[in-house]
Amino acid sequence: MKCVQINGEKKFKIGEIDEPIIDSKKVIIDVKKAGICGSDIHYWVQGEPKGLVMGHEFSGVVTDPGLRKDLKIGDRVTALPISPCLKCHACLSGNPQYCIHTWDNASGLSLDNPGALAPKMAIRPDMVIKIPDSVTDDEAAMTEPLAVGLHAIHLADIKVGEKVLVIGGGIIGLVSCMLAKMGGASYVAVSETNKNRGKKALSLGVADEFFDALDPNFIENVMDRTHRGFDKVIECCGNSNAVTSAISSVKTGGTVILVGVSLDAITIPSVVAVMHELTLKGAIAYTKEEFKTCLELMYNKKIDMTKFVDKVISLDEVQDAYKELTSGESSAIKILVDPNK
Ligand SMILES: NC(=O)c1ccc[n+]([C@@H]2O[C@H](COP(=O)([O-])OP(=O)(O)OC[C@H]3O[C@@H](n4cnc5c(N)ncnc54)[C@H](O)[C@@H]3O)[C@@H](O)[C@H]2O)c1
Ligand SMILES: [Zn+2]
Ligand SMILES: [Zn+2]
Repeated sequence: MKCVQINGEKKFKIGEIDEPIIDSKKVIIDVKKAGICGSDIHYWVQGEPKGLVMGHEFSGVVTDPGLRKDLKIGDRVTALPISPCLKCHACLSGNPQYCIHTWDNASGLSLDNPGALAPKMAIRPDMVIKIPDSVTDDEAAMTEPLAVGLHAIHLADIKVGEKVLVIGGGIIGLVSCMLAKMGGASYVAVSETNKNRGKKALSLGVADEFFDALDPNFIENVMDRTHRGFDKVIECCGNSNAVTSAISSVKTGGTVILVGVSLDAITIPSVVAVMHELTLKGAIAYTKEEFKTCLELMYNKKIDMTKFVDKVISLDEVQDAYKELTSGESSAIKILVDPNK
């Protein structure tokens, strides 16, 4: 079947892979929608591993329920893309995100488990979750990034009335803004190097204010607005400048949540973290409960994820979409792929 594969630095190719084998274990789906994620962009920029079929955020329709006797052909599903061992201390304590095997065979992130940038995919049965009827395929394909934001906000432990700054206005940053407000923050600001994305955060109503991260007075502007710094800062970019901004804009004794992923070591002003007794917390993925909560939030209409969808494209348009998303100028937040388009 046709698919999109990594084929070098910033290069995809339209390739051919075998259709998933029906083994009566894995759940086989026809992919409906796949999301393009900031983490995928890191792989694309790096150009490795060659041949990887990405797409770890998705929705689809069951064509073979495999081991999942509670599912039938035609059911709409999404899934956690991860591969926890279920035996280690982390897995047994309900924290599969800490399991050292969680990314080994992750769907769309490992060569042996092709993701949703293909018309069909096979998924580990215990990770599959049914989509409630009123949640659309587009929304369900965004459960995964929403769950990343929810986990970050849970770790931030926002108190009613707190001021929160989110660094980076991609989908992870914007859902973090939205959830911070829901969690009781009295003022949520976003900083962006891409003005069009920053302005979009305002027009979508998820942030109260946008700060231009390229403004030489950025830190002064932020500190003026909050007097002594933000209570919580959520870093959703994964680069040295962004983490430095986070550390510099949080109040003394405040908390920085690091969500952005950097594949390279980055430099940070650790002296500020020391002198201000900051708490720096990493946030990785989500628990299964958080993933299910996200579907419930959409089902109960507490959250509208459709407002983040800019367009739905075909497999042939994926290369151009990655160029657009890395242009630094596009206002697009989430581009979905319909591999059957
Ligand atoms: N920890 C996790 O579990 C997890 C899960 C998913 C994604 N991520 C990571 O989170 C990050 C965000 O994901 P995304 O999908 O929103 O990515 P994205 O690339 O769409 O968004 C990142 C945004 O940050 C902006 N930016 C870059 N440098 C900045 C700076 N110094 N100040 C302000 N803004 C800046 C960019 O313009 C971009 O809009 C990525 O690094 C991704 O790999 C982490
Ligand atoms: Zn993702
Ligand atoms: Zn484990």
